[in-house]
Parts: sequence; structure tokens; C-alpha cells
Amino acid sequence: MKKGKENGVKVEVPRIFPKGLKIFIIGGGRACKALLETIMGDASMEVLGLAEINPEAEALPLARQLGIPIFEDYRVVLDMPQVDLILNLTGDKALEKELRDLLKKRGRQTEILGGLGGRLLWGVLGRKDYLAWTDPLTGLFNVAYFYRALEEEIERGMRYGSPFALLFMDADNFKDINDRLGHLQGDRVLKAIGDAVASSLRSADIAARYGGDEFTAILPETQVEGAVKVAERVRKKVEGLGDSLGVSPLSLSIGVAVFPLDGVTSEELVRRADWAMYQAKKMGGNRVFRLGVGKEPPAFFRVEDALSLVSQKGEKDKFHRSHSEVVSKFSVEIGKALGLNRAMVRLLRVAGALHDIGKAEVSFGEGAWNYKEHPLIGAYMLRHVPYLRGIVPMVLYHHERYDGKGFPKGLMGKQIPQGAQVVLLADKLHHILEHEPQWRVGDLLKALGEVEKDVGAVDPQMIEAFREALKSRPQDQLLLAF
Ligand SMILES: [Fe+2]
Ligand SMILES: [Fe+2]
Repeated sequence: MKKGKENGVKVEVPRIFPKGLKIFIIGGGRACKALLETIMGDASMEVLGLAEINPEAEALPLARQLGIPIFEDYRVVLDMPQVDLILNLTGDKALEKELRDLLKKRGRQTEILGGLGGRLLWGVLGRKDYLAWTDPLTGLFNVAYFYRALEEEIERGMRYGSPFALLFMDADNFKDINDRLGHLQGDRVLKAIGDAVASSLRSADIAARYGGDEFTAILPETQVEGAVKVAERVRKKVEGLGDSLGVSPLSLSIGVAVFPLDGVTSEELVRRADWAMYQAKKMGGNRVFRLGVGKEPPAFFRVEDALSLVSQKGEKDKFHRSHSEVVSKFSVEIGKALGLNRAMVRLLRVAGALHDIGKAEVSFGEGAWNYKEHPLIGAYMLRHVPYLRGIVPMVLYHHERYDGKGFPKGLMGKQIPQGAQVVLLADKLHHILEHEPQWRVGDLLKALGEVEKDVGAVDPQMIEAFREALKSRPQDQLLLAF
């Protein structure tokens, strides 16, 4: 057994633990490093020792720098009566049990915190970094931390050639659970899924809540077979949860991607894992899937492409100017008429241009795509592009009808995001006016009358507001000419 330096590191700021909480950490991986970074400088904790068997473990350089004694055998803590709290960051429950029994035999009251409990300690520390990185509902890391960790993993992979895997997980039919049992129950289910994910992973793995009912995991040093094995373990665990929670059936669809086979950037990897997850869902859910070689998910759209598409001045055949361009222009006009703010109008401009982008991909994938899936596919293409996240609902719901008879979700009335209704109205106006060479304000007013004949398609208040705005303008004012 190797023994480290005698003195622990004393960190200042006596706020929550006035006397300083004396802790012993088991596991010197990434979680430990993050923890040391967190408590460095502003919490009243004294780290009396760190147990880690792997000399290459990530937290060790920092621990040495802080003067924290490092041990190979965690049982050394049995001889450290001054320790108030043992933090098990390895995820190894058996180790925890063994230690608890041994402590009990010696009459020691020392707390052992593991897994999520260990992470919660950061919450107690009140450090804002912790909060900024954590999902409050599940206690897992959040999407911001996920991307940070992913970038780090890629960097490491590039430097040392070490592979890793990425899992994208989505609860099947979670919306039904929410609708049927209410949001509180839905939250309980998400928390349970989060626990199941965390407890099925290995200590070095990182689990995060990506958002909504989506979870991700980064599995360092893992190839395809290993990743599929871990994913299967998670899938089975969640499958078994449904009965105990009274929400059967409960299941996950899981997409797998591996570095560097499936990509060498976070975008490529996320896109492939996410798309694989979507395929798993299409095949009926409750399964693990990895995209085959040569199967490409829809491309991401870059914001520059989007904007150049909108601002393109028609060199081409004037009568065949793109549908996107017109819908973009009309969406902006409607948005202004509704008195929306500039940021929103800017989003509408892009949403109008990209609303049918999913059609470009309708021939992709296993089995034939249905036309009605183009909003969904469009949303998939756009959702990982940070600047375009705001338009995702507008694209996703641009075929929902006010009367609830639209697709893909059958949303109704005010459930439909306003921007999506704007795009739908613009889309309808273009279909009515598509064969005219030029459109004046008066033409648009007439077309609005046509749209109204399709009763229940668009919010009547929106039509009215646009009509009022158009009426106040010169009727022969040219809006667009080709
Ligand atoms: Fe469309
Ligand atoms: Fe369209």
C-alpha cells in the first residue's frame, strides 16, 4: 500500500460546515477531478485522502498539486477516525457495502455517500458551477456539461487514439405517460430513468440529461460491442421499471455511435447517435441501434446556409423562385403585423426559409418515409444547431392545424406555437398565389379570403390581425415580384 503525504489540504470559506468537513474520496476519475475543481477555493472541506488504483487516473495530478494523500487501497480509511464522510465516486455498490460493514464492526458512524448522493454533495456545496452543470430533476449532468465532456473526450481520443462511445437514449411514448398521469408523475418517471441509467453505467462513464425525456452517456475507452452491452443493460433496467412505477410499458430507444468510426467531431457523433436512436424508435422502440456503414443521417444545416438561402436574389427563372424564399418573406410580414419583436421576426425569416428542409431527406432510411414526416425530419436536422434551436418548434409544427386535424402531433388551438401558425399561413398564401408574377398588398388580402375558406386551418385571430395590417397599407404596394 502506497502512502501519500501526511497533510490533507484545507480549503477555506467556512460557510456550510463551520468546522470543515473531513472527507475521504474513493475513485480518482473524472468525477473526482470535477469535485476537486469544485471544492477548490470556496468550500469548507478538508480532503484527507484519495483512493485510486490506476496511476493514470484523471484527478491524480490535481490531487497531487493540492497535496492530497493518494492511496491504492481504500481500506486505509478504516484507520482514519477523523474522516466524517466517505465519498464513493466509483459507482461500485459492493465496495460501499463492504466498507459500511467494516466500519460498523469498528463502531464507526462515518457516512458513505455514493452515486447520485455523492453528486448531491456538490449541491450542498452550493457552488454555482455545480448547478450550472447539473440537471436538477435527475441529478445527472446537464447538456452543457455533456458537450464539454464530449469535447474533452474527443481531444483525448485525438491525442492518444483512445476510442469512446456515445449513447443517445429517449423514453418511448413518454408524452403518453405525461398526458395520462400528469406532469408530477412524469417527473418521477424521468428521475427513475435517470437513476437507472446512472446505476447501469460504469464509474468512468458520464450520464447526462440532454433535455426532456432524452438522456446521453459518454463511455470512455469503449468500442462498439462494449457500448452495445452497456446500452442493453440500461435498456433492460428501464424496461423493468415500468411495473414498479405503475407506468407500464416503459422503455428506452437507444442510439449508439463510436469515436472515431462514426465521426471525429461532436456534431458528427451526436448526429449519428441521435439518428440511430430515432431509427430504433421507428422500428418500434425498446431497442438498441447503431447506424450501419454508409447510412447517413440528415445533414445539419448551418446558419450561414440558411441565411444565404433567404437572401439569395433571384438570378434564376423568375417564376420559379423558391417556395422557401416566399414563405420566409410572408412569415416576416405576418410577424410584423402581429407586433412580434425583432428577435422573433428574425427567427420567422429563417423558419420560413427552412420549414420544408425535411423534404430533402424523405427518401432516407429504412423503409419509405411518409410525406407527413417532413416536419419531424426537418426538426431533427435543425435541433442540434445552437443558433437554430428557436425555429425547431416552428418547423416541427408548421402542418398542425388550429382545429387539431393537422400533423405530426395533432396539436390544437393555442397548443400550437405561434411561429408555426405564422409559417403555415405564409405557406398557404404562397400556394394560393404561386402562379402570379407579382404580388401587391391587395393580392394578399384576396388570398387571405381564400385561406379562410379552409375553416379551422389557421388561428382566425391571426388572419384578422394580418388583414388589418394589410388594409392600412397602400393596396397597390408591391410586396414581391418575379
Ligand atoms: Fe411543409
Ligand atoms: Fe411548404
